[in-house]
Amino acid sequence: MRWSERQRAMLGAMGITLWGPDRVEARDAPATTVPRPRDPGAAVACADTPARAEASARAAGGARAAFVAAPAPDAADIATLDWNALRARVASCRACRLCESRTQTVFGVGNPRAHCMIVGEAPGENEDLQGEPFVGSAGQLLDRMLLAIGLTRGEAEPAQQVFIANTLKCRPPRNRNPEPAELARCSAYLVRQIELVQPKLLLAMGRFAVQALLDSSEPIGRLRGRVHRWRDLPVVVTYHPAYLLRNPADKVRAWADLCLAATLLAR
Ligand code: URA
Repeated sequence: MRWSERQRAMLGAMGITLWGPDRVEARDAPATTVPRPRDPGAAVACADTPARAEASARAAGGARAAFVAAPAPDAADIATLDWNALRARVASCRACRLCESRTQTVFGVGNPRAHCMIVGEAPGENEDLQGEPFVGSAGQLLDRMLLAIGLTRGEAEPAQQVFIANTLKCRPPRNRNPEPAELARCSAYLVRQIELVQPKLLLAMGRFAVQALLDSSEPIGRLRGRVHRWRDLPVVVTYHPAYLLRNPADKVRAWADLCLAATLLAR
């Protein structure tokens, strides 16, 4: 494969070094993200009755006050909301205890008419503070990856601009992994976002996006490189940018996934 100067510059920005005209290899980069500790109080994440919440709090050593969640979002009701109503519903959501520790919800960013919609995992500390997904170091890598295939979260036509959302709209404390009950309670929001954006392509980044969209716990390495479906929409699976920061050798595979996504988008 021959690379244009622009592609070479973009790949360089992604941390991928080209050797000769035909080969792409990853350049070592220092790991900049920290591993996510498990949350010891996760047992009370989504207790939905006062009695259960108290029992769970006791089981967790009484370290946390009981939390009484609002009822789970009603998917049929959420499916009727327009964009602004959906955004407002997310902002006021108290369906799991993540609402207690969040600074704000993180709805998404980009063009709600984008051809490409990216699904990540959950807001981290910076995202929670700024109210925008992927603004930390993983987000900077994501922006460079998108630029490499001519896409941006900034102002652009729907064909060039992406919409970025997460499976969870609230930050899990200390950036722990999302809990299954949290993912379940938040899923109607993501589904409605996809229905309203009506993208031509979904790009699932990381295992929680894959779980949410494909209901699969297969490793990314086994799912990437081919086209999956969410309803009738094509889904391309790739590594999460935070994983790529820790495992730069896999940037080559992520680049191949982006090329697959770009090919599908160009159809
Ligand atoms: N990782 C994600 O998956 N989403 C964000 O918004 C930030 C980091």
